[in-house]
Amino acid sequence: MRQKIVAGNWKMNNTLDEGLKLTSEIVNMVNDEVNTDVRVILAPPFVHLTQVRGLVKDSEKISLSAQNCNENDEGAFTGEISAEMLASVGVQYVILGHSERREYFDETNEQLAKKIDIALANNLKPIFCCGESLEVRENGLFKEFVSNQISDSLFHLGEEDLKKVVIAYEPIWAIGTGKTASTEQAQEMHAVIRELLAERYGADVAENISILYGGSCKPSNAPELFACKDVDGGLIGGASLKSRDFLDIIKSF
Ligand code: G3P
Repeated sequence: MRQKIVAGNWKMNNTLDEGLKLTSEIVNMVNDEVNTDVRVILAPPFVHLTQVRGLVKDSEKISLSAQNCNENDEGAFTGEISAEMLASVGVQYVILGHSERREYFDETNEQLAKKIDIALANNLKPIFCCGESLEVRENGLFKEFVSNQISDSLFHLGEEDLKKVVIAYEPIWAIGTGKTASTEQAQEMHAVIRELLAERYGADVAENISILYGGSCKPSNAPELFACKDVDGGLIGGASLKSRDFLDIIKSF
């Protein structure tokens, strides 16, 4: 049975005090209200990691993620954070290849393959993001585009390493727009991703990889999205900044 996951990507939001308040609310609400085996992951900005770690370390349901890491071990990379540093403060997951990093920081599939490798080498579980732009969807090439993102960045991995990867399908045209993918669109792409994994690694491995949906996932649409056969949860942006909305999404399974 593959793991159901709801991850909150705070992006570049919250002062330290705001992050403390939000995390405390989420921890209390998860303890009081969540009675399923869903894995909750919080992905705050780097400055929050040590504080959030302290608040979630005793929770059996909540894990900590970073939003990125550098592909190098260490050295003269001003402003960057290494996978080893993240592991040293108790981070368990790392989001890699988010469309905003691909767009604003020109991250390539090849660069992301290196980020995947160094994350795994430091015992971090990658949350690997993929997804197409509106232009690619409208020209009908979205299946090939997303398949290339996955094969270019993940298919060098052996079976045991791939099993540690969570995949997040985030159609760019749905991120922050309020224009959520339909359940048919989400299920179609999740099934394409799962079939691609099965062709490379076999059905048993593919069936146990968690594939999350991201892109304007809200309490109002999470139940129908999470009911899709190949949707195993969500990677949540805006709605993860409001504790009640985030909890309602977690409770949507
Ligand atoms: O990483 C999740 C994010 O890209 C989705 O953002 O605000 O559309 O839920 P949002």
